Amino acid sequence: MLENKNILLGITGGIAAYKAVELLRLLKKTGANVNVIMTKSALEFVGRTTFEVLSENKVLTDLFSDTDSSVKHIDLATNANVVIIAPATANIIAKLGAGIADDALSTTMLAVACPVMICPSMNTNMYQNIQVQRNLDSLEKDGFNILDPDAGVLACKTVGAGRLPDPWFIFDRLEAMLVKKDLKSKKILVSAGPTVEAIDPVRFVSNHSSGKMGYAIARAAEKRGGQVTLISGPVTLEPPVNVECINVVNCEEMAEQMLSHLDETDIIIKVAAVADYRPVDPADSKIKKKDNKALSVAMTQNPDIAKLIGEKKRKDQFLVGFAAETDDLEKNAILKIKKKNLDMIAANLVGSSDSGFKADTNKVKLFFKDGSFIDIPLMDKEKVADILLDNIIEKKG
Ligand code: PMT
Repeated sequence: MLENKNILLGITGGIAAYKAVELLRLLKKTGANVNVIMTKSALEFVGRTTFEVLSENKVLTDLFSDTDSSVKHIDLATNANVVIIAPATANIIAKLGAGIADDALSTTMLAVACPVMICPSMNTNMYQNIQVQRNLDSLEKDGFNILDPDAGVLACKTVGAGRLPDPWFIFDRLEAMLVKKDLKSKKILVSAGPTVEAIDPVRFVSNHSSGKMGYAIARAAEKRGGQVTLISGPVTLEPPVNVECINVVNCEEMAEQMLSHLDETDIIIKVAAVADYRPVDPADSKIKKKDNKALSVAMTQNPDIAKLIGEKKRKDQFLVGFAAETDDLEKNAILKIKKKNLDMIAANLVGSSDSGFKADTNKVKLFFKDGSFIDIPLMDKEKVADILLDNIIEKKG
């Protein structure tokens, strides 16, 4: 989304200015062109060289001495696709609110016409100061996006709100700010990860699902304005920002959570790799090894959650399944659409290192109830997630 975009990163004088280095690195990784403007106070905390090397652009700190063009700041403002000020001090917040232009950053900001994100960071008392809060309110009313600071122990040893959030979080919210909100007010239920079926207290039956595909879909749907509930089997991933995440272990728990959320949901996306079978009678204590004797564990079928939802779903609800296949991808996917009453199925071949389980990329074919299909080339799971959502929106209407 940010590839080839012009991003203007404003840095003002707070101890959190060091976090702007990592933020700049994340922005550059997307393929964006980043220009940095620092205030004189920011230079007291971090050096310009770091930002010049990482951004591959000259850093603007002074309207007159830094540039051979007297309108450099106007060029930066006009060409910017998005502006982010992190950290933003009480001083820059007040200046933006009042329209004051007395340095490179505040003057540039008056000429900016693109979306702006402001990340306040300061001592808790300063942040809660009535003037600062009034300025933030008025900036928000004027269309600026304000990212609330975190609470915690601050550099001044105060405990409270005012800490600049982690760079990855700022980056995530910046992306969310720019995404078209085409899932606004839609309730989306996603299942992800494996289920784990106990044999005894130390052993289990499960599969290789890492949760990456399902979590990517939950993240993408949230950024597009959806209210997302994620029912997740055991994985090691961070819960997506702003998503209700409910952790479950086995198929029965997953079924219970999915069905209890069904009524209020518009779109259900079943990415979880649910174990088809579970041990009939899990042992209460560890099964002991018997010398040279084979062990048989009697298994019984788990409920098919997708099928249960397919039977219960209303006409206005859209049900998407995934099919993990090692062969006969197309035939099996089409069979599953019918058997489970799905509106769409995303079929992926599993068993290779760049697609399916655990990989960061996936090779998916989308099949629809009406018989049509789309072949998506191998790409990042994040991109697959967006294409999948595009198709849901188009088909659901
Ligand atoms: O998590 P990752 O490492 O990123 O890997 C992603 C993935 C490979 C797990 C994912 O892309 C995927 O293919 N998920 C579906 C895996 C699966 O269980 O496929 P299936 O063909 O066995 O099941 C078909 C559909 O029925 C699925 O939507 C599944 O959630 C659902 N199902 C299956 C069994 C069952 N008892 N209940 C179900 O609801």
